Amino acid sequence: MTQTISVGLLGLGTVGSGVVHIIEEHQDKLKHQVGCDVKVKKVLVNNPEKKRDIPLDGVTMTTDANDVLNDPELDIIIEVIGGVETARDYIVQALKNKKHVVTANKDLMAVYGSELLETASQNRCDLFYEASVAGGIPILRSLVEGLSSDRITKMMGILNGTTNYILTKMTQEGADYEEVLKEAQSLGYAEADPTADVEGIDAARKIAILGTLGFSMHIELEDVAIEGISSVSREDLEYSKQLGYTMKLIGIASRTVNKVEVSVQPALFPDNHPLSAVNEEFNAVYVYGEAVGETMFYGPGAGKLPTATAVVSDLVEVVKNIRLGVNGNSAVIPQYKKNLKTDDEIEAKYFLRIKAEDQSGTFSALTSLFAKYEVSLEKILQEPSEEKGFADIVMTTHTVSKRNYQMILEQLQGLDVVSEIKSSYRVEGDE
Ligand code: HSE
Repeated sequence: MTQTISVGLLGLGTVGSGVVHIIEEHQDKLKHQVGCDVKVKKVLVNNPEKKRDIPLDGVTMTTDANDVLNDPELDIIIEVIGGVETARDYIVQALKNKKHVVTANKDLMAVYGSELLETASQNRCDLFYEASVAGGIPILRSLVEGLSSDRITKMMGILNGTTNYILTKMTQEGADYEEVLKEAQSLGYAEADPTADVEGIDAARKIAILGTLGFSMHIELEDVAIEGISSVSREDLEYSKQLGYTMKLIGIASRTVNKVEVSVQPALFPDNHPLSAVNEEFNAVYVYGEAVGETMFYGPGAGKLPTATAVVSDLVEVVKNIRLGVNGNSAVIPQYKKNLKTDDEIEAKYFLRIKAEDQSGTFSALTSLFAKYEVSLEKILQEPSEEKGFADIVMTTHTVSKRNYQMILEQLQGLDVVSEIKSSYRVEGDE
């Protein structure tokens, strides 16, 4: 068969250029895998005159999206422009024109994923989005294919490179959050407006996508309880270190029988947990399956070529499906109705740091409160506070329901001996 598959590209920024590069550089391998040529024919750009250091012979540049979306010669559209509403309109138009779509857009898939997959299915088209979660790590395909025979009960992901870079620097250099954020911005690792990254929203979009695929249940962004890292202090990390823990911003999706919890928060892991060794801007996804046990997927979560490999691997999948005549099956109807755990059903261990009066009766007041909610303490550390007459007390609990823990936090505020609740974090990975 001498067919050539023609591709239209929406966007020629960092990832788009990487896609062109990989398709060109790996053409022999691609051809061997799919049995035909794959060529980028048309690209939507802002500025066709701009000089670019990628091979663009035979590629038509246009500033009009309709030139790409309505071109009958194009079989597949790759969306790498980012943003939500325009990207959504383009993808819908492409699918209605019976073009298969590959996207790297997690913001879009976290919000409109189900709707777009439905549109793809109605038009007998593929819609793949491997690059939307953890860039170069093939985690979506691992969940849907590699682990398809297992029943996944827990996923924990370091899904945001910016925050992992910041927490790594704070931990290793004993630096303050603001200081490291500024340095990360000046080096180009963090965005000028870092809100979506540091407040956990980017990670929440990704864990919603993982939860939906891993649990076959439609998890939406609004189902994710989100807490970022902007109030993490150097002291929190120092005390965590003394107790043998490393802090990570972690997306958690866990399932007990048929109920799930999905959240993003800074959490403490034992120093010897594999997630504790994931540093700098790297991502990792830990997956626990009933049959397979523990697995972990590690790699670059962003960047030109890592992200482009995921996009082009999706492209290969679409072309294989075209050759086999089996497109239109990327929307798998969720097996289960969404069933979220209540705060009574969410169970975790916690780290708690308070400033309290350094006098007799303080511990008795604290332990009475914990006993009232049947919470047992695992580790306790006390050091003199900077203010005379006060102590910094750091405790970790055994497993407790989120509801009971919140009750303890509320009532701690009312204890005369407690001056301030400094911080509180989940402890994960040492069950
Ligand atoms: N802002 C993201 C991060 C980029 O820091 O990981 C990849 O989604």
